Amino acid sequence: MSNVVVFGNQKGGVGKSTLSVLYALWLADLHHHSVCFIDLDAQGNASKTLQACDSQVRSVDLFAEEALPVVPTCLLAGQRPVVLLAATKELADIELAKPEAVVPAFRHNVRQLAQSFDTVVIDTPPTLGLRMSAALIAATRAVCPIELEEYSMDGVVDMLKTIFGIRQRYNPRLELAGIVLNRVNPRSARQKAAIQQLVLSYPDFVIPARISTRSAIPEALAEGKAVWELGKSSAREAGAEIKGAFTALHLRIERSQDTTTAATNAEIAA
Ligand SMILES: Nc1ncnc2c1ncn2[C@@H]1O[C@H](COP(=O)(O)OP(=O)(O)O)[C@@H](O)[C@H]1O
Ligand SMILES: [Mg+2]
Repeated sequence: MSNVVVFGNQKGGVGKSTLSVLYALWLADLHHHSVCFIDLDAQGNASKTLQACDSQVRSVDLFAEEALPVVPTCLLAGQRPVVLLAATKELADIELAKPEAVVPAFRHNVRQLAQSFDTVVIDTPPTLGLRMSAALIAATRAVCPIELEEYSMDGVVDMLKTIFGIRQRYNPRLELAGIVLNRVNPRSARQKAAIQQLVLSYPDFVIPARISTRSAIPEALAEGKAVWELGKSSAREAGAEIKGAFTALHLRIERSQDTTTAATNAEIAA
């Protein structure tokens, strides 16, 4: 089965949607992966950026037993091989469902998709609810984007506990691929101290690359593009930074399960 990569952090505004979309585009552009993108956030920011790749299957349908087959329209059109299962407002209703009624169906459907695509990428809502749990139960890798602000730093501890708990109870295949530092300000002494603390606490998980706050990133996404596709020089710098971070992240995502299991256990349980 190919990798199912979930971008999760129950804190909003840390870059889950931004980085999950860019990771999908990066895999398609630089690794020629076919990517299935599942948007579980009812806000639908990622769906807006990827609307040209819409499969016409809604992500909410994956929570039902008989999900519609996903038609890879982009692949047929010879465009970028990314296929979107878009967010809709009905996703909010999933939080009210009985877990046993929706989680096994979601896991089954995602694993079916993982047979047909090189990678499945899932964007999650900013809550530790049923959709986040279902995503982690179906996944093989979790990526935790983080902003170096105090509340976000608190949130990362909860998120790692959730990942560890899901792995122990429901999904032994789940690995924490890494914590990605987003919106870094290299001039901030406070952020520098926060990074040092984070590296001390989770030496095996902090991805050794930083992504700064760059206006070219949301500008490009608003046009349905990756930042490396904009011609401007500021976009080139941003693109280089993102590609550096994803190269480091991707190595960990592809790394064999055996090498990370023991370390993950020790780190998160501590
Ligand atoms: N590195 C970055 N540089 C500039 N803006 C960013 C960056 N990362 C995220 N943003 C912006 O911050 C906001 C929140 O990001 P988003 O990806 O939607 O977070 P989340 O999905 O975690 O709620 C969005 O407006 C997004 O465009
Ligand atoms: Mg989001």
